[in-house]
Amino acid sequence: MKKIEEYVRSIPDFPEEGIIFRDVTSILQDADGLHLAIDELQKTLEGLDFDVVVGPESRGFIFGVPIAYNLHKAFVPVRKKGKLPCETVELEYDLEYGSAVIEMHKDAVRPGQRVVIIDDLIATGGTIEAIIKLVEQLGGEVVKISFLMELAGLNGREKLKGYNVESVICYEGK
Ligand code: PRP
Ligand code: MG
Repeated sequence: MKKIEEYVRSIPDFPEEGIIFRDVTSILQDADGLHLAIDELQKTLEGLDFDVVVGPESRGFIFGVPIAYNLHKAFVPVRKKGKLPCETVELEYDLEYGSAVIEMHKDAVRPGQRVVIIDDLIATGGTIEAIIKLVEQLGGEVVKISFLMELAGLNGREKLKGYNVESVICYEGK
């Protein structure tokens, strides 16, 4: 059986020179790769007591929803600004290339709920740092943060100190 690393296509110098882009679509477009990715990511939550999976648009949806479904938990989308119809909390944060504003519905996480955050990748950690702030603003407790891939060279974990963070595969570079 192939390992998850073998499904990841790496593209040098995309979107900028010196960056190796780790392409998640090459995992998804293979039925075995997709199964393995969901299963491995789900294993990071084994034995954990929690209520809600929170996932950022858009790649966080791909991995967050099947895991929430499998474990019979709720799924809460974090969206880019302007997409959610009801009252929201929002935050601007820095991206590896530029900045963005994300939003969550105010009633999506209730005080005291135990929250797991799932995304495909941690690079600078900026996205997840912003999501933690929003979840905590709503009174949720972030009990675990799981990624399929981690780019350790960007030190994203520094921003998530004190939280329970796990990634399925880790690349040393950026
Ligand atoms: C990518 C990736 C993570 C985030 C990681 O999402 O899917 O969500 O960047 O970067 P960070 O750790 O530096 O914050 P992107 O914002 O490109 O949007 P997408 O998921 O819609 O492709
Ligand atoms: Mg993303």
